[in-house]
Amino acid sequence: MNAPVVSLNDVSVSYRGGLFRPAVEAVRKVSLDIGEGETLGLVGESGSGKSTLARVCLGLTAPTRGRLTFAGEAFGKLRARRGQLAEVLQFPEWALNPRLRCGRSVEEPLIVLGVAAAERRARVAAMLARVGLDAGVAQRLPGQLSGGQRQRVAIARALVTRPRFIVFDEAVSALDVSVQAQVMNLIRDLQAEQGFAALFISHDIAATRYLSHRLAVMKGGEIVETGPRDRFYGEPHHAYTRALLAAAL
Ligand SMILES: Nc1ncnc2c1ncn2[C@@H]1O[C@H](COP(=O)(O)OP(=O)(O)OP(=O)(O)O)[C@@H](O)[C@H]1O
Ligand SMILES: [Mg+2]
Repeated sequence: MNAPVVSLNDVSVSYRGGLFRPAVEAVRKVSLDIGEGETLGLVGESGSGKSTLARVCLGLTAPTRGRLTFAGEAFGKLRARRGQLAEVLQFPEWALNPRLRCGRSVEEPLIVLGVAAAERRARVAAMLARVGLDAGVAQRLPGQLSGGQRQRVAIARALVTRPRFIVFDEAVSALDVSVQAQVMNLIRDLQAEQGFAALFISHDIAATRYLSHRLAVMKGGEIVETGPRDRFYGEPHHAYTRALLAAAL
């Protein structure tokens, strides 16, 4: 594997309970590395802790125990990592302000980084074209696009700063099946071109296998199996992984 971009060392995350809610250990003693240019696929049933783990990798949730390092250094302040990390979530509506024209939504992360106006315009135009949208989309509001187009805008917004690490958390799950395949191909091509490290999360093991170099299987907060993608075509060792595969067929 290439030099790790994201490393988790024995990370656990507990959510505190409430009056009618028991405390939950959502992630238990997870160690993993995601290398430069690598896509790690993370699969597991609902509630197994995938999104919590992703938020730890992005520095958005502090581990209760264990350590996160980014490019070999202590993660530090989230502010200092601006532009280096990004996420694409299940619903593009979560990333796009409904009242902002799409071009502006893609431009925003560059404004935050202090990129000059002329360069911003050029990068936004190039990015929109790269995700397969025509230039006119920049002038439209998210509500005037199809779901697939909106997710492409969200991907453009995530990628425009050329981050080193991107989480795709169920990024294709809400899309129509035909659009799903197109967006998966887009993610795969962009990853190959730009070489970012990625964590691709899905409950769909077939989709994850298609996009990932390596897979990790999560159950009850733990990683129960991990290995190169080819391993998951043959005989995965863990009974739980076999059940996930059977469900995908
Ligand atoms: N903010 C929170 N406060 C308390 N408990 C939480 C919080 N977020 C998640 N949990 C709990 O932690 C566990 C793991 O949740 P998480 O969202 O990480 O799972 P997931 O694998 O992403 O599930 P899904 O596939 O449904 O998205 C669940 O039991 C969930 O109820
Ligand atoms: Mg989740």
